[in-house]
Amino acid sequence: MRYYLTTPIYYVNAAPHIGHAYTTIAADVLVRHHRQRGDETFFLTGTDENASKVYRVAEEQGLDPKAYVDEIVEQWRALPERVGAEYDFFIRTTDEGHHRFVQEFLQRIYDNGDIYQDVYSGLYCVGCEEFKSEADLVDGLCPEHGIPPERIEETNYFFRLSAYQDRLLELYDERPDFVLPRNRYNEARSFIEGGLEDFSVSRAGQPWGVPIPWDEGQVTYVWVDALINYLSALTYARDGEDLRERFWPEVRHLLGKDILRFHCVYWPALLLAAGYEVPKQLFVHGWLLLEDRKISKSLGNALDPLDLVDVYGADAVRFWALRSVSFGQDGNTSLEGLHERYERELGNDLGNLVSRTTAMIARYRDGRVAPARPNEELAAALDALRGKLVDRFDAWDLTGALEDIWELVRWLNRHVESTAPWQLAKDEARGDELDAVLYDLADGVRAVAVAVSPYLPETAPLILAALGQPVELGIERVAYGVTPPTDGIAAAAPLFPRVDQPTAAA
Ligand code: MSP
Repeated sequence: MRYYLTTPIYYVNAAPHIGHAYTTIAADVLVRHHRQRGDETFFLTGTDENASKVYRVAEEQGLDPKAYVDEIVEQWRALPERVGAEYDFFIRTTDEGHHRFVQEFLQRIYDNGDIYQDVYSGLYCVGCEEFKSEADLVDGLCPEHGIPPERIEETNYFFRLSAYQDRLLELYDERPDFVLPRNRYNEARSFIEGGLEDFSVSRAGQPWGVPIPWDEGQVTYVWVDALINYLSALTYARDGEDLRERFWPEVRHLLGKDILRFHCVYWPALLLAAGYEVPKQLFVHGWLLLEDRKISKSLGNALDPLDLVDVYGADAVRFWALRSVSFGQDGNTSLEGLHERYERELGNDLGNLVSRTTAMIARYRDGRVAPARPNEELAAALDALRGKLVDRFDAWDLTGALEDIWELVRWLNRHVESTAPWQLAKDEARGDELDAVLYDLADGVRAVAVAVSPYLPETAPLILAALGQPVELGIERVAYGVTPPTDGIAAAAPLFPRVDQPTAAA
């Protein structure tokens, strides 16, 4: 199967925060899982640089916009790596290849007659980079950003979105899983049903952006050029290769609920108008709230994910983000929660299991394990887990899959307690039993490492190395009896060493 996944491209008007890291982490977990299944994958992320707000921030700082974006983009480029995410291409919408493709794409729609000129008069929120109606406002302010929108009157080019209402409704009817979760599908569908209005796809009087090919006095509205990144990247990510042949329309978009309409309504319509197929699927996730507040710079509680990563490591932050908030829903998190999960779940449940298992093998069997009496219960549990992981990931249920893995971790911990290898070791007559228990623990922990590797990409190879096993992460290895006779297993160093809890939110 081919699996092409995108994150939204991030605005570069400020530095990344943990909310952005959340989307990137989730995307990386999904892609790593699909690699485990042997799928041909492509993971795209990047930055949205043509926004008015980016231009304004540069102006405020007295910088040339290109110089500004070239500098700040480095922080955004560092984000995936700091959270352990491995992308295939990082797109910047200031890339020449992107500009070229956007112009071609718009020209196609223009030639098809779905773009026309008109006068736009209305309200615009620079925070959202979105036109607003009076009904969207609360006390005259944008509810997202708490700032008054600006009144804009200019001659613009408009996209005939209204002409696509029926085709979009048909699409939603034919493909009930086009947008997930279901409540987001319903939200998008009812927005379409409520009637679609044409929208402006250009801005006059701003020199920053992709020029409209037939009228260079205007630039493309940032949301339009931004959405097109998902397609443009495929045309120049690899020299001499057009990846559209392999990955379009095998594309899945991951996005936050704040940008649902653009992705679930405008984007498929633009694609249809330009003669492209619509994406395979879109998944809309919720907000990661920190101490009940939305995380964003403008609200003053921005938390630099890099700070958390420095303290706990990328794996712990990934684990916490996906475990403490049910993926797809909004969820409240806290720094205490992160610390607690680090100590209790990663340190005790998993870390100690690995330490104890390797220490007992080293101590009681000179570092050797070999298949002994097969354990039917463990074999069945691993087969079931393998199947559940596939189903959960197909439903984008990243939190559910992690809980399934943790059930196995808990089973293994109970197994240590109930079989008490330290007792068996005292009785030579029970040597076979001890061999069997130690093998089951080693093989079970190995399977946990494979299963959890999308979430803990740094830790999983360490666990496999501690057990003398190769770093082979294929999902078929979430099974019993894979560990061959192995020598040289030594007591492993702690995987999640104790850390002091940071006292204040960074
Ligand atoms: N540039 C647009 C997206 C264009 S995609 C064609 C944009 N950028 S953004 O930087 O403001 O936000 C991008 C995404 O970051 C959001 O959709 C969401 O996925 C994610 N998040 C930002 N803050 C978040 C949280 N606090 N919680 C969860 N996700 C958050 O919108």
